[in-house]
Amino acid sequence: MKKIFIAGGAGYVGCQLIEKLLEKGYYVYCYDILIYGESSIKNFSNYNNFEFIKGDIRKPEVIKNILKDVDSVVNLAAIVGDKPCQSAPNSAYQINYIGNTRLAELSKLCNVKKYIFSSTCSNYGVSPNEEYLLETSRLNPVSLYAETKIDSEKKLLELSSDNFATVSLRFGTAYGKSIRTRFDLTINSFCYEAFKHNKLIVFAPETWRPYVHVKDMANIVISIIETDSDKYNGQILNAGFTNENYKKSDIIDFFKNKILDLEVVSVPIEDRRNYKVSFEKLYNILKLKNEFDIYDAIDELLESFKSKIITEKDFHSNSLETITDFFKDKERSLSLE
Ligand SMILES: NC(=O)c1ccc[n+]([C@@H]2O[C@H](COP(=O)([O-])OP(=O)(O)OC[C@H]3O[C@@H](n4cnc5c(N)ncnc54)[C@H](O)[C@@H]3O)[C@@H](O)[C@H]2O)c1
Repeated sequence: MKKIFIAGGAGYVGCQLIEKLLEKGYYVYCYDILIYGESSIKNFSNYNNFEFIKGDIRKPEVIKNILKDVDSVVNLAAIVGDKPCQSAPNSAYQINYIGNTRLAELSKLCNVKKYIFSSTCSNYGVSPNEEYLLETSRLNPVSLYAETKIDSEKKLLELSSDNFATVSLRFGTAYGKSIRTRFDLTINSFCYEAFKHNKLIVFAPETWRPYVHVKDMANIVISIIETDSDKYNGQILNAGFTNENYKKSDIIDFFKNKILDLEVVSVPIEDRRNYKVSFEKLYNILKLKNEFDIYDAIDELLESFKSKIITEKDFHSNSLETITDFFKDKERSLSLE
């Protein structure tokens, strides 16, 4: 049974990935500091191929013996997004960059074969025109979040070797229902606002972004785990699907057709994050197509609100205040942990 180590596995993407890996018969270790609690992974304790270790990627020594026995490490642990990183900048740098570096260095020392890092298309920032961006396109980060991810990608390029394959997956913006759904992401928050308030305030409606369903993110990571690392070792890959670039105004039109009395207020400000991304490099390696699109996800989320599968409590469980609260004492100290 192949052993996979997931750092940040209790998060929005992680719990979905773990569920799929367990169903496929992998042995899964989940390592997480549980910023959002442990309800997302609670049900996995029924599996005998699952182990949870509470801990911090900045302190990976405690998992040295586990890493010696692991085939692949997937690092999802991070402070995620522009505003959360702004609210805890020291911790964001320590976790997203230093933590990733420490985990990768120890993984290499322990002879882990593959190290898969979750980066972001936010690294592209603003794009000058409407051409599809490639991995070689100029980066233009407009946030600390993107800067920590770019630095981590560079570090992994240095660490990659014949025996230690590294890959950085630049994911688009995630959407869709997960075991613990995030509502600070465009599509998911549109669903909630449209359902709850019958109103959407849309900033920069003409901007483009690549999106990717959280379950398709899991499919991509699993496909990477199952593909010969010679095809991607030491590389950066845009991670998503070219047909999943959407303009906000197109998404809004879909909402208007679903909720006929929906009030939409468009605010045409300049958004510094406007980009379309090509995912052809990933497709040529994995030959993987998306299983879901945003329209399936919007339908599913609206249904989940109606049937109260997702409630008000779930919406508030991942607010910015959680991050601010969790790191407030640590932020007072500038020193590295
Ligand atoms: N969600 C998106 O739209 C998106 C898009 C592109 C890339 N990504 C990347 O995918 C990864 C997962 O994102 P997500 O949406 O699941 O985020 P999330 O915030 O839901 O999950 C992150 C998890 O990491 C854990 N964590 C944070 N710091 C840790 C530390 N020091 N040690 C151990 N665990 C720690 C948290 O407790 C949480 O469970 C992140 O690296 C993110 O940058 C996400």
